[in-house]
Amino acid sequence: MNQWILEPDEILTVHPILPVLVVDSVEQAVSIGNALIEGGYSALEVTLRTPAALDAITEMRRTFPDVLVGAGTVLNTADYDQAVKAGAQFAVSPGLTEALLRHARNQTIPFIPGVASASEIMQALAHGYECLKFFPAEASGGVAVLKAFGGPFPQVRFCPSGGIIAANAQDYLALPNVAAVSGSWMVSDAVI
Ligand code: 3PG
Repeated sequence: MNQWILEPDEILTVHPILPVLVVDSVEQAVSIGNALIEGGYSALEVTLRTPAALDAITEMRRTFPDVLVGAGTVLNTADYDQAVKAGAQFAVSPGLTEALLRHARNQTIPFIPGVASASEIMQALAHGYECLKFFPAEASGGVAVLKAFGGPFPQVRFCPSGGIIAANAQDYLALPNVAAVSGSWMVSDAVI
């Protein structure tokens, strides 16, 4: 049993569209955060792809206490632990490793591992993960593949991400096994 502060399902059900941010500075993160909140978003993912990411997570938690702030691009257990330390409330990865699946199970913040194949889904299920990121969604076959996964894996809820835009987001959200979608398409609007 995990001791997560909340379940991934709770996050994705309440926040069906999750903005993904790549931030160059803490100031930029806060200003994008402000724009997204004004646009009605109340959960976001800051990718650990830039040196500013961890500080940005900490500052966003302080500035936006009512917003759910997660860490994305969590590639290993060190990333996961740094994300927790920075104040992230959930962690997302583009793929999965045995080490991450094992580690995150015993920590406090929920982890949403990434999958793109049936074998990876089976690996995640073997560790008790039923809420998964589907990445890169469009390049991996998009809606058609998620429909196909619904057959053998009816218990899995997906958060597709990668190549999702305003024009195709609803097609994904209409699928019964899609709990939420995530992406960066709305962030460029927020920046402008
Ligand atoms: C990512 O990790 O890059 C996300 O899945 C966002 O993808 P996008 O930039 O194609 O929306």
